[in-house]
Amino acid sequence: MEKREQLYEGKAKKVFLTDDPDLLIVSYKDDATAFDGQKKGTIVGKGAINNRMTNHIFKLLEKEGVPTHLVEELNDRETLVKKVEIVPLEVIIRNFSAGSFAKKLGMEEGIKLACPTLEFSYKNDDLHDPFINSYYALALNLATQEEIDTITKYAFTVNKVMREYFASLGIELIDFKIEFGRYHGQIILADEVSPDTCRLWDKETHEKLDKDRFRRDLGNVEDAYQEVFRRLGIQ
Ligand code: TMP
Repeated sequence: MEKREQLYEGKAKKVFLTDDPDLLIVSYKDDATAFDGQKKGTIVGKGAINNRMTNHIFKLLEKEGVPTHLVEELNDRETLVKKVEIVPLEVIIRNFSAGSFAKKLGMEEGIKLACPTLEFSYKNDDLHDPFINSYYALALNLATQEEIDTITKYAFTVNKVMREYFASLGIELIDFKIEFGRYHGQIILADEVSPDTCRLWDKETHEKLDKDRFRRDLGNVEDAYQEVFRRLGIQ
């Protein structure tokens, strides 16, 4: 596999073309942003942790019937993935109140919800990723009904698998954001699953082990990422 020119640079990853038109290389950066890029920083070691954690979890999800873009981890920071067309929806699942949900509903964080919730945001930084529902997604031609149904089904499966897996590591999966792509007409899980995109709390102490430490200036940001990685038990 030959790495070719850079296709795109996002806030947390770079994407490179390869000599195979169906495959890309993603390269995870240590750069961190929050609030649509207004806050910028570096989380040393984050790129490698997010790369290896995403691949570890994507393999687990594949076993449980969720197709993903993962092809092969190339090194600490780089992974060969299927080239998808990203569906411009951020799919957010919540098990406990936190973040924008807690704020919007005037709730404390950490209240267990009666059942998991799912919401969509329209992926558009200029508009600050506005909350939309499936009717908006259809009306704006962001996805078909069939795609929305598949995405919803996979998202709840991802939640079930990850919630149980993190629980076995002493971590409560509070909420997370995932993204899907189209690959030869099929919906598959793309992007990443990491402390950047999940809220992960220690089950006993409720200590935050995720990017909220960076967003909210809580300190020990690198330690939190390292701690999650350590618990995954990947050599
Ligand atoms: P929220 O409570 O701020 O809406 O965030 C919900 C989840 O989505 C949380 O796990 C963090 C994640 N998230 C992202 O991955 N990217 C983002 O840009 C935002 C705002 C949240």
